[in-house]
Order: sequence, then structure tokens, then C-alpha cells
Amino acid sequence: MLFYWSIAIIRGLSFGIVIHGQGSAMAYIEFDHVIKEYATGAGEPIRALDEASFTADRGELTVILGQSGAGKTTALNILGGMDTATSGRVVVGGRDITGLGKRELIGYRRTDIGFVFQFYNLVPNLTALENVELASQICPDHFDPADTLRKVGLGDRLDNFPAQVSGGEQQRVSIARAIAKKPKLLLCDEPTGALDYETGKEVLQLLQDICRAEGMTVLIITHNSALAPMAHKVIHFRSGKVVGQEFNVAPTPIADIEW
Ligand SMILES: Nc1ncnc2c1ncn2[C@@H]1O[C@H](COP(=O)(O)OP(=O)(O)OP(=O)(O)O)[C@@H](O)[C@H]1O
Ligand SMILES: [Mg+2]
Repeated sequence: MLFYWSIAIIRGLSFGIVIHGQGSAMAYIEFDHVIKEYATGAGEPIRALDEASFTADRGELTVILGQSGAGKTTALNILGGMDTATSGRVVVGGRDITGLGKRELIGYRRTDIGFVFQFYNLVPNLTALENVELASQICPDHFDPADTLRKVGLGDRLDNFPAQVSGGEQQRVSIARAIAKKPKLLLCDEPTGALDYETGKEVLQLLQDICRAEGMTVLIITHNSALAPMAHKVIHFRSGKVVGQEFNVAPTPIADIEW
């Protein structure tokens, strides 16, 4: 990590570009030469990840950029314990999750990971508060669900059902659901993909604020390269590989980014 920062500093820029190097031993996430192949029946398997390697640091916001089909969701699902690598090593917080069995993965997903999806995935017949409670009650150490909804600006919508609030508000509920678990890692797959410009901006601001205020490690997948300045680190995926990384010594507040 020191190595990367030095590069950014030596260049005298707040924005340094380096080709991916060796993972730092101190990184919170180590995604190390991960291959993921999907069987396709009779034909050749599809290689969604092709020796992809990157690292991400604790308490930092990392953005994953890449075109459709580049392997971004596959990488996030493996990090979140929702899918498993064909080969390679994935270490999160010093724990090698590639070696975990089914039961251990359930526990890992439950307590360590918060997930924010593009289409919210809220339970339609539960209120905002019940949606957050449902996720947090299975975690022994969690934030108060109502407090968390207040934190994302939904204090007056606790008893509304998902269909009674806007898309941006539904995404706020889903962010509250994810962070109320006090996850070690917050994984967001195109969290603004279904939102308009202004609402998307508010949701990204919220994620940036959570990272800063809670010291939470946050990964966000996006197609939008204009968002690169918001992150401490930007990882570029292409055809299942990590083809580059960028570092921002001082990430830009979302409010100051236009696209
Ligand atoms: N379950 C699966 N079975 C077969 N192929 C899959 C499966 N999941 C993903 N793939 C393939 O793996 C590749 C990477 O998919 P992935 O969903 O990770 O891409 P992505 O970068 O998230 O794309 P997008 O931006 O469109 O969401 C694609 O070619 C995809 O078709
Ligand atoms: Mg995807």
C-alpha cells in the first residue's frame, strides 16, 4: 500500500495511475489470481474471471469499473460469499474465504457482508423498518434498525412498504438494511443503475459518507467512469482481468462531480 501511495505522491498528483502490481500483505481484501469458470453444458466453459488480482484497504471506498460482461458482478459475488472461485485465493480481513465450507459461508454472508443491489431486493410485504429488522436481527452485534433508517434520511417512512416510497428511497432502505448489520464489508453492485441522476448522486453521497463516518470498507461497481474521483481506489476490469488501478489521495465529494 505504501508503495502505491508513494507513487501517487512522487508524481505530485492527487491522481496516479499504475498498472496492477503485487497485492499488499496489509490489504483488507486480497483477490489473488482468481479464475471463475461457468459450465455451459457441452461447450467450452465461460471464463468470467481470468486470473483477476486486486487489493482493497480497510475503511476505504473502492470503485470497480468495466464494461458489461467484464466480470465485475462475478468478483463481487465471490467476495460476498455468494459464489465461489474456480481457483485462486480470496482473503478478507485475514481470512481465506476460498477455503470456507457451505455453513461457514452462510455465517460469513450473515455477519461480515452488507450487499446493496441495483434493484433493491426489498421484501415487498414488509415495511421499511421490518426489512431492516429482518436482516439485522440475525446479527448478534448490529445497529438499531430505526436509528439506521433515520441516518439515511428515512425517519418518517419507517412504516411505509417498499411500493409506497420512491426508487431512491427504496435504495436508501436497502442501504440501511445492509449497514444495520455492521458489516465489515459493504458491497454495492450498480447501486444507482435504476435511479435518475440527482437521486443517484444522493445515494452515492450517502455511501461515501458511510465509508467516511463509519470507517466501513465499501466497494461499488459502476459503468460510469466519471465516478472515479469519488474513490480512494479505482479498479478497472476488462474481459475477466484487472487491467489497471488508480489512486486518489484525496477523493472528491460526490457533490463536486458532474457527469
Ligand atoms: N451463472 C452464469 N453462468 C454462465 N455465465 C455467466 C454466469 N454469470 C456470469 N456469466 C458470464 O460471465 C461473464 C461476466 O459476467 P458478470 O456478470 O460478472 O459481468 P459484469 O461485469 O457484472 O457485467 P454487467 O456490467 O453487464 O453487469 C459474462 O460473460 C457472463 O455472461
Ligand atoms: Mg454486473
